[in-house]
Amino acid sequence: MKLTSLSIILVMIVGSVSAQRIDISTDKTDLILKVGDNGRLYQTYLGEKLLNRAELDDFSWQVHGGSDGSISARGWEVYAGSGAEDYFEPALAVTHDGGNLTTILKYAGHKQVPTSYGSETEITLRDELFPVEVKLFYEAYDKENIIKTWSVICNNGKKPVDIWRYASAMLYFDREAYFLTEFASDWAKEVQMQTQRLQYGKKIVDTKLGSRAAMHVQPFFELGMNKPASETGGEVLMGTLGWTGNFQFTFEVDNIGNLRVIPSINPYASTWELNAGETFKTPDFIFTLSQNGAGEGSRNFHDWARRYQIKDGMGDRMTLLNNWENTYFDFDQELLAQLMDEARDLGVDMFLLDDGWFGNKYPRKDDRAGLGDWSATKSKLPGGIPALVKAAEEAGVKFGIWIEPEMVNPKSELFEKHPDWAYTLPNRDTYYYRNQLVLDLNRPEVQDHVFNVVDTILANNPDVAYFKWDCNSPITNVFSHYLKEKQQQLYIGHVRGLYKVLERIKEKYPDVPMMLCSGGGARCDYEALKYFTEFWCSDNTDPVERLFIQWGFSQFFPVKAMSAHVTDWNKNAPIKFRTDVASMAKLGFDMGLKNLSAVELRYVQEAIKNWNRLKPVILDGEQYRLVSPYEYNHTATNYVSADKQHAVLFAFDIYPRFAEKVHKVKLQGLDPLRQYRIVEINRMPRINEKGEVVVYSSAEPDKNDTSRWAQDGKVYSGDYLMKVGLDAFTTSQLHSRVVELIAQ
Ligand code: DGJ
Repeated sequence: MKLTSLSIILVMIVGSVSAQRIDISTDKTDLILKVGDNGRLYQTYLGEKLLNRAELDDFSWQVHGGSDGSISARGWEVYAGSGAEDYFEPALAVTHDGGNLTTILKYAGHKQVPTSYGSETEITLRDELFPVEVKLFYEAYDKENIIKTWSVICNNGKKPVDIWRYASAMLYFDREAYFLTEFASDWAKEVQMQTQRLQYGKKIVDTKLGSRAAMHVQPFFELGMNKPASETGGEVLMGTLGWTGNFQFTFEVDNIGNLRVIPSINPYASTWELNAGETFKTPDFIFTLSQNGAGEGSRNFHDWARRYQIKDGMGDRMTLLNNWENTYFDFDQELLAQLMDEARDLGVDMFLLDDGWFGNKYPRKDDRAGLGDWSATKSKLPGGIPALVKAAEEAGVKFGIWIEPEMVNPKSELFEKHPDWAYTLPNRDTYYYRNQLVLDLNRPEVQDHVFNVVDTILANNPDVAYFKWDCNSPITNVFSHYLKEKQQQLYIGHVRGLYKVLERIKEKYPDVPMMLCSGGGARCDYEALKYFTEFWCSDNTDPVERLFIQWGFSQFFPVKAMSAHVTDWNKNAPIKFRTDVASMAKLGFDMGLKNLSAVELRYVQEAIKNWNRLKPVILDGEQYRLVSPYEYNHTATNYVSADKQHAVLFAFDIYPRFAEKVHKVKLQGLDPLRQYRIVEINRMPRINEKGEVVVYSSAEPDKNDTSRWAQDGKVYSGDYLMKVGLDAFTTSQLHSRVVELIAQ
């Protein structure tokens, strides 16, 4: 953020800023801060936008439980230091030169400027006794109702200090009850939503995994105020930390029932030595406060992320055929050329070559060797990447490639040459996770190596159109041969090293799309997504599981960024069900086509055409999660284009019970006054008497079509569709229905 002197003058014009009060506002939320009589900065309000913020000038601190009713009451300090009258978790903890552990920050000034999206605020706080300064930054996105906040801690002294608490922000709530929804995860079990009531004390959600950092829990949460977060009603805080490493969310309910929320890098084993004159910038904490449930909060995030955060968030996305589930490591040039032809026959844009294409002294035949040696295996691929790019061109599809550049197998030429580039423990046994080690991104040579993996491929093959960037191991053997006696900087330095590399790649190759993958979906955060167009949600592509996983990730991410592939996981589910599930996000395939019958192939080809046609609605429209798979044996979601002319409904019957009552599906987000024609698409074709594959058409219905849905072709008002709904569910198991709604 750049605040110029012109901007500072503009502060005068903003008007909403009084000397004592700082208003950080979107169109729907007010975060009001106020300087107390003691010169410290307090949060007086965080909630639904107020009509008259000036009324808060008489705010009684007794409401918050302050013992004397004054503004210097305990708690509610915007960036609480340590060692004073606040006995709960601080935002900042510093060991000053000489060992003093107390920090008390006082307001020293602020600037606020209007921006194209809302406003930017910078507040300066200082300790009067020690040369520590903190700057708090807030970007408020009016329309999207998103606030992005971070802090910068500065050591203005002449000696180093140690910082061991460095929150991105600190928010307070004074409500009847708080319900936390966390997104627990594991390999193939990502984003399991689970809710609990917070009681006195601390609940900490954190990770210490380092690189595959979100394997066990994701860096986002929902906080239902007074009741558990629901889709359409109630106040809910939805927050996420943009940090691709160890994070920590602390939720602390104090003695009088107030809650403080502290998002941060996990300080575990990470006391940071801040040298004289240096600054420490925390990651962004991005949040929305919805008064209408999580559905609206998600749409706030989706709109904001596409417009302002994700790499090429407003751009197009390619469909693809991947080979991982189909071949694993077992392929050669000839087979890949055949698969590229299959990609063309399927009608996707790109063929994506996965793991197993590299290594010569130690060829990558399985996951035990080769990582680090990024040249194509001659015995498998004699023509190297150039021949593959050419084969793709001949097939008429683009070519993308898998890499895992942050890792090394001990069986590799890279490790033989540079054993000290990997984290390993001196004088202790090495622990291998998936037979590999993590490269030390604190080390500049390693940063160059990782950058060169991408740079060399693209320099030699400018037509490579896409990267899948994997990261399968957490940081194991936590010792950096580079950092020597500064081991406590390992975790933070590692992530910062990764960002340096990603920044160089983005600068040199701004238009190359990349998928972020981490042994499934163990790395999905908004800082990483500045550099990636999409992420891999999970290796679990069983469509039933995916319904839950996509439901979970879509709480925070637009489906445009969520790669969803049709595979052979759960063959009990028909190809239609599997494809319809993946069509709700960024569609791709990872299977061999020879297993598909002529009817199934034709179905998939039509589904891809439909998806391409409906991309503006599905990827760029508004998403409404209608029926949760967590609550019912069925689930449904609809998407609506920005102009409300066009919508798509996806309805799934998972495992309905015998003769169970089936509810209608009430849509959301339509224009109540418009009439919509209902068209069922993605129907399974049939074979006619002449043995030909016939695709059903709603425009010209077939008289013999006995399986036609009773509501296909009908016209209803948006009002009817939202209040009465469609009979989209059935009692058939693993059944799906896709419905297009076209305004008349
Ligand atoms: C883990 C990823 O999630 C998979 O999609 C695949 O790319 C493998 N790694 C390859 O090793």
